[in-house]
Amino acid sequence: MPVRTWELPLLLLLGLGLGSQEALPPPCESQIYCHGELLHQVQMAKLYPDDKQFVDMSLSAAPDEVLQSFSALTTAHNHSIPRQQLQEFIQRYFQPVGQELLSWTPEDWKDRPQFLQKISDAKLRAWAEQLHQIWKKLGRKMKPEVLSHPERFSLIYSEHPFIVPGGRFVEFYYWDSYWVIEGLLLSEMTETVRGMLQNFLDLVKTYGHIPNGGRVYYLQRSHPPLLTLMMDRYITHTDNISFLRENIETLALELDFWTVNRTVSVNLGGESYILNRYYVPFGGPRPESYSKDEELANNLQEGDPEALWAELKAGAESGWDFSSRWLVGSPHPDLLSSIQTSRQVPVDLNAFLCQAEELMSSFYSRLGDDAQAAKYKGLRVQRMAAMQAVLWDEQKGAWFDYDLENGKKNLEFYPSNLTPLWAGCFSDPAAVDKALKYLEDSQILTYQYGIPTSLRNTGQQWDFPNGWAPLQDLVIRGLAKSSSPRTQGVAFQLAQNWIRTNFDVYSQKSAMYEKYDISNGQPGSGGEYEVQEGFGWTNGVALMLLDHYGDQLTSGTRLALLVPHCLVAACLFHLLPSFLS
Ligand SMILES: *[C@@H]1O[C@H](CO)[C@@H](O)[C@H](O)[C@H]1NC(C)=O
Ligand SMILES: *[C@@H]1O[C@H](CO)[C@@H](O)[C@H](O)[C@H]1NC(C)=O
Ligand SMILES: *[C@@H]1O[C@H](CO)[C@@H](O)[C@H](O)[C@H]1NC(C)=O
Repeated sequence: MPVRTWELPLLLLLGLGLGSQEALPPPCESQIYCHGELLHQVQMAKLYPDDKQFVDMSLSAAPDEVLQSFSALTTAHNHSIPRQQLQEFIQRYFQPVGQELLSWTPEDWKDRPQFLQKISDAKLRAWAEQLHQIWKKLGRKMKPEVLSHPERFSLIYSEHPFIVPGGRFVEFYYWDSYWVIEGLLLSEMTETVRGMLQNFLDLVKTYGHIPNGGRVYYLQRSHPPLLTLMMDRYITHTDNISFLRENIETLALELDFWTVNRTVSVNLGGESYILNRYYVPFGGPRPESYSKDEELANNLQEGDPEALWAELKAGAESGWDFSSRWLVGSPHPDLLSSIQTSRQVPVDLNAFLCQAEELMSSFYSRLGDDAQAAKYKGLRVQRMAAMQAVLWDEQKGAWFDYDLENGKKNLEFYPSNLTPLWAGCFSDPAAVDKALKYLEDSQILTYQYGIPTSLRNTGQQWDFPNGWAPLQDLVIRGLAKSSSPRTQGVAFQLAQNWIRTNFDVYSQKSAMYEKYDISNGQPGSGGEYEVQEGFGWTNGVALMLLDHYGDQLTSGTRLALLVPHCLVAACLFHLLPSFLS
């Protein structure tokens, strides 16, 4: 891939002082699950409705034997194996999906966690109890074979059981797990949480970073970095300082990955700022979406397929796969083939890291290491200054992704633009109320089923009209930091809207979904696969909102549109009759 101009000073910069990293093997060398002709032939034959199915199958024989047998087959058919023969080959050498994972009922699951008592509305309380039950359905542990024969599985072995998102996502996912863990802590399942944290820490020790999810084909990319925050939530609930002490170096190692592998330098107004971006320096189609990526590249009029694939992987790393946020290149914005994730300096990524730096500083202080505490404090100060200079827009009252290629901010609406509030990464106390005005100016408060992911309808799943639970959380808890009753009232109203959407769909379908369509309050759609049930982070966010606003939330009639500029008390008075009807 071409080295772009903004990368040059950075390469020099990173040459300094980072020699301590041990050499790690290139992520994912499997000739079955990551690259090679076998993967190519099977995925391009489209034997299954979802490409993920094949790469989730485990082997019935050693990889060398499978590859040799495949080589004989391709030679016999001159590299064009008939479908029937390919199917027979897979039946012989692969196991059906899902066999390496066992259902697991968390041992620390209990009948009636305390937080349920905080929920006043009886229907919502009964629903919260059912959400709490779902943890038992989403628990998984690995069979010992995954440890004894790792080469036969795409699944990466984890010692401790964990909670999965659900649906097609039968392994754990990195950023999803943060909201899952928030929910588990409300359910008082601290042992499960510690096991999940330990799994992530083990991955950092083995691979130097946390992959997008728990499969070898996810190793080339990470996911939004929330491990330090997960640790903070666990420590806040348990005060288990010895666990923190044991693992603080590993947390630091994970943040080093973002510094070494994902930093970018921005030159603006004669100053140079260091920030982070999503960036995956590996080509090749994503193994779990192989045929789609291959076809997208085949339809390219111009441009390099390897660069396209690397940008798709970077989009997956962002967690927003895919979104108009990244579809900014040629030939036309909003087309998936125009994806250029790595040219954006994302607000949310930098806010997550800013928060992690603050948490590391306070962890080290607690452990008595003032030098390290000062180091992370310094990193945070630098990052806040860089975010202020590069991402903040005083006129709009929000932060925006910065486009390295054209030197401009992307002024489209995305909930991620307010992540610094949620992450506590702002210094102007008025920023929260500016954010309210920003939401009003963008007409976001007129959507009664939830906050949209963007205002662009591209057919991608991280765009209008989908609403996602973690993005509701980013905005709601950001606004709730205001001291103004009006801003806090809007935060509550947004929580009420989202809870009502989740509750109403649950009442109809007895299921929780990974995303919702905020134009009609139904399960979401769009993107690369069917909408999934489960669902880890949706349940986590619902439990958080039910816990925080339990004394005010209602299951009753949906409120009419938010009435802008009215005080909370006045709004309630105004709308009271509709509650009672
Ligand atoms: C194998 O296929 C290639 C084209 O894909 C063809 O040129 C070649 O002649 C074939 N060889 C045999 C032995 O059929
Ligand atoms: C704290 O973590 C340690 C592992 O570091 C574990 O052995 C211990 O049981 C944990 N304590 C509590 C109270 O959970
Ligand atoms: C991170 O960077 C190091 C040093 O360049 C490299 O060896 C390693 O493969 C990279 N890791 C990933 C996951 O990209």
